[in-house]
This record gives sequence, structure tokens and C-alpha cells, in this order.
Amino acid sequence: MKVKIHTLFQYLLETTQSTPEAIVGFSLSQSPRLGDFLDELDPDLPLDWNNRDFSGLPELKEHVLRQAGLEGICTPKDVLITAGAAEANYLAIMQTLQPDDEIVIETPGWPQAEVLAKAIGANVVKVTRSEANNWRLPLDELAEAITQCTKMIFLSNPNNPTGDVLDDSELRKIVQMADRVGAWLLVDEVYAGLEWDGPRAPSVAGMYARGITTGSVSKGLGLQGLRTGWIICPDAGLIHDAVILRENSSEIMNIMGEVIAEIALRPDRYGPAMEKARAEGRANLDQMNAWVDAHEALSWVSPRAGLIGLGRLPEGVESDPFARFLLGDPYRTFLLPGSAYDEPNHIRLGVGGGAAVNLEEGLIRLAQGLHDYQKR
Ligand SMILES: Cc1ncc(COP(=O)(O)O)c(C=O)c1O
Repeated sequence: MKVKIHTLFQYLLETTQSTPEAIVGFSLSQSPRLGDFLDELDPDLPLDWNNRDFSGLPELKEHVLRQAGLEGICTPKDVLITAGAAEANYLAIMQTLQPDDEIVIETPGWPQAEVLAKAIGANVVKVTRSEANNWRLPLDELAEAITQCTKMIFLSNPNNPTGDVLDDSELRKIVQMADRVGAWLLVDEVYAGLEWDGPRAPSVAGMYARGITTGSVSKGLGLQGLRTGWIICPDAGLIHDAVILRENSSEIMNIMGEVIAEIALRPDRYGPAMEKARAEGRANLDQMNAWVDAHEALSWVSPRAGLIGLGRLPEGVESDPFARFLLGDPYRTFLLPGSAYDEPNHIRLGVGGGAAVNLEEGLIRLAQGLHDYQKR
């Protein structure tokens, strides 16, 4: 098994050395600083491991259930703390999919499942979200795609990259589809808590015996560098299998990641932090919507949740060369081309990152860059 590079990561690797002056499409809230946590940190904390539980700090697992609304529905033994949602997805996919199994995924969607499924030698079945339908997941097509061969369904809710949200009743229908064939249903919730026009959707770990919820502190809380995420699943075998694979990759959790995430998810911190993230995200989204409205060359379906969405470029403008053009002088503005999501006529727009990403200036340069690019 060899894992091959995806176009999204390829673009990030190729552009890491660039020094943009603005970023349009930043995908996480402004990050707190280490100093914000110092008062609560114990200087005598041993830096070996948590000394208590291979599946994560017990109080952190309680917080994870609370933020997902799963208190009293799932128990801490249903939770495994991981190195981000990325490792959570990795462990769950690698331990459930075998060569020739089928996995149903959405496109556009978070590419990790496809990359891993291909490495395993599983068959990938894609269900397309179309822009004409506001990037909604067509449930009739999903139902057709799920067969007796389906071992896993992988979705992100809210969806990366479109910001669409599956609501309670849609998720219930999807659970029924999965249950009919006994498939695992993995829903990645990294953007949960940043809904702009409706409630947070329920987590599938609380709805289905084979429901797997993954998430992390990376997006809403902006704590990506902690590398702290989780799997929640009521199936004890799945959690055990994930612990076994983790023992053979990162072995145990990064203790600082666990301890700081535990502080960040305490109710007296989590509530205000998410309120701040939502206020900043909402303000930037209003700004972005006004900007898109004012620029005829671009359009987008404003995300219903999360910090990113796909902007449509004028016909004939290819996103990859355009993104590279915009990164060069004099624009020095970074954005992710839609080619990273098999949407080559789109760019990823976003509203995260706070003041550090210089969004207002980035939008001015994006408009100028697009104008100049088309005139060449
Ligand atoms: C849908 C989705 N899943 C997982 C990840 C990985 O996040 P983490 O930092 O929690 O590993 C990302 C990051 O962009 C994401 O957008």
C-alpha cells in the first residue's frame, strides 16, 4: 500500500515557500496564543504521557462528548483522542476498509477518504454535489450509490469545501441507507459549531451503531497546531482497532495537545471562544458576500456553515494557473485553486484567520489580479 499525493496537498507543498501578503480562503478561526493558556497550565506536568488512559485524558473525552451534544447518549469509552481529525479519519478508514471494498464519498468533498481508499485498493463511488443545486447532497443519488458492496460512507458535515449542511432529517435518512446494508457511516465534523443559518446538526455517533463522528479543535477554535482531534463511535471494536493502529503510528497522544485542548474545551472557555469565532466569521462572511455581489466576474453559493466556500471564476479562467499568477508580484495573494477539489473553474474563498490574513487587501488584489489575468 502506498499513499499517493493529492492535488490539494501538492499545491500547498509547492507554494509553502511563497510569502503572501494576504490570504483569501483561510480555513480556520484566528488562533489563540500559548500565553492564553499559561495560567491554567501546571508547570509540574510530566511530559511523558497522560499516565491514565490510552484513549485520551478522561476529562477531555467528557468535553468532546459535551461539545457534540452527546452527553448521556455516548460514553467516554466511545471516544478516542487522536492527532487531529486527519488521524481520526485515517485510523477509522484504514481499520474498516479492505481491498475491493466499496466506499461512497461526496464530490466536492474532503479528499482524504479517496486518497486512503485508493491506497488500500478499495473502490471509490462518488456522489456529486452540483453548484446548480446549491451544492446540496442529492440524497436520491446517494441512495442509489449505496449497495450491498458498500463498506463505508464518508461525508463531511458541514461540507468542506462548499459549506453546505446536512440537517437532522437528512442525516436520519442517510443513517437508514447505511443501516440497510450495514455500512459504516463516517461524518467528519471539523466545521461543526460554525453554522450561519441553522442549528448544529446531530452527530451520527449518537444515531447509529456504526456511526463514526470525527472532529477536532482545529477549525472553530483555531487550535490546528495542537494536533488534537477525536473519533466518537459506539462500536467498541472500531475504537479498539483504531487504538491498535495508533499504537503503530503515533503510539500515544501528544500530552501538550491533550492538556491544552482540555482547557480550551472547558465550558467556561469553549462557549466564549466559539462566540468570538462566530462573530468574527459572520462579520467576514458579510464582507465577503458584499464583495462577491459587487464583482460581476465572480459568484458563489455563500456557505451555510464553516469558513470556506467555492467561488466561480469567469468561463475560461483555469483556477490553478490563476492561483499561481495571483501569488506572484504584484498581488502576492494566496488562495487555493478549485482544482484541488476537482472544480477547476472555482477558487476557494474563505473568511477565517482574523486580522493576520489581511482579507480586505486580499480581496482588492484578487479583483485586480482577475482583471489583469483576463486582459493578458
Ligand atoms: C473536513 C476536514 N477534515 C479534516 C481536516 C484535518 O483537520 P485536523 O487539523 O483536525 O487534522 C480538515 C482540515 O482542513 C478538514 O477540512
